[in-house]
Amino acid sequence: MAKRETVRVAERVKTLPPYLFARIDQLRNEARRKGVDVIDLGVGDPDEPTPAPIVAAMQRAAADPANHKYPAYEGSFAFRKSCADYLKKRLGAALDPASEILALIGSKEGIGHLPLAFVDPGDLVLVPDPGYPVYAIATRFCGGEPHFMPLRAENGFMPDLSRVPAKAWNRAKILWLNYPNNPTGARATREFFLEAIRLCAKYGVLLAHDAAYFEIYAGRERPLSILELPGGREVGVEFYSFSKTFNMTGWRIGFAAGQAAAINALGRVKNNLDSGAFTAVQQATVAGNARLAALIGPIRRLYAGRRKETVKAMQRAGFDVFDAGATFYIWTRTPAGSTSAEFAMRALAKAGVVVTPGTGFGPSGEGYFRVALCAPQARILEGVRRLAAVRG
Ligand SMILES: Cc1ncc(COP(=O)(O)O)c(C=O)c1O
Repeated sequence: MAKRETVRVAERVKTLPPYLFARIDQLRNEARRKGVDVIDLGVGDPDEPTPAPIVAAMQRAAADPANHKYPAYEGSFAFRKSCADYLKKRLGAALDPASEILALIGSKEGIGHLPLAFVDPGDLVLVPDPGYPVYAIATRFCGGEPHFMPLRAENGFMPDLSRVPAKAWNRAKILWLNYPNNPTGARATREFFLEAIRLCAKYGVLLAHDAAYFEIYAGRERPLSILELPGGREVGVEFYSFSKTFNMTGWRIGFAAGQAAAINALGRVKNNLDSGAFTAVQQATVAGNARLAALIGPIRRLYAGRRKETVKAMQRAGFDVFDAGATFYIWTRTPAGSTSAEFAMRALAKAGVVVTPGTGFGPSGEGYFRVALCAPQARILEGVRRLAAVRG
């Protein structure tokens, strides 16, 4: 008789593709163990520290025994009020901290849990391709089916919503959008967002907008939010993250804002799965929000400078780059004759440079790779020189 396995994991885990960045980390670490001087332009994790006033506020908050207890599930009122004040200042939109804002343990947590609040087995979720992998995976965890919407250069990397069939709209529960966009760096236009809002209202679909890179852009013109557009708050929820805004990826803090019934549904899922974000981290973030302009200015300028220099160097080296001036990514065509995976593997094996293959974000990422500007400028430029040498 065949030996019975002692643990039998679920199909959803067995069929899970390896988490892209975990696999890339593994290859990078292997190269480093072999002594290669690896330049990591792969994962989007800021290389600069969290600003000092936030760290100082954290030190104080961590020492306060009142913060050693379970946090409030939905986030402290002070934190939610600070997020509402932030939205008022940035968008001019007045949201109710009690019913329209929810603290998240990083925006990934909220993005991952949202389908549990909306998706039943057999439902569709409209997902951008290429896109942040969590939208599709979390949909599948709930028995839902992602309906992929290709992002193409000729449409400025915005999905052509008119090509989503009415049948798909009728079965859909959530439309995921993400601008400024990972991985392409694209910004959405007002017309595009208005069309998304109109279609979501027509078909009763939740518009979930991932605004994790809202504060990371070059130039004066900030990206748009659905919460500032007519009808946006009636159909939509927006996911904000302090990870990139304040170089706080390790702290795990973000928030969701928008349609009260959706915020309530997500909050009810979370109440049953987690117990909220560490109150001290929330207090430190409030301190950051209070100094928003002073803290974000240098961070934004740093990436804008790196972007300008890197785009110039890549173009000089003959790379075809897409530059809409937002996020800290540069979406680039792979050299003719190389697939995304081939070029990324060649870059690591022959040049010691980690880049992310476009197909890691979905099949429509074929023919592209992503460069993250999360290393000192000199290292990025050295990385570009090495990439140029293996263009082939
Ligand atoms: C598009 C996008 N959304 C959300 C996140 C999650 O960010 P966090 O959980 O750190 O807030 C990331 C992280 O890289 C991202 O790229």
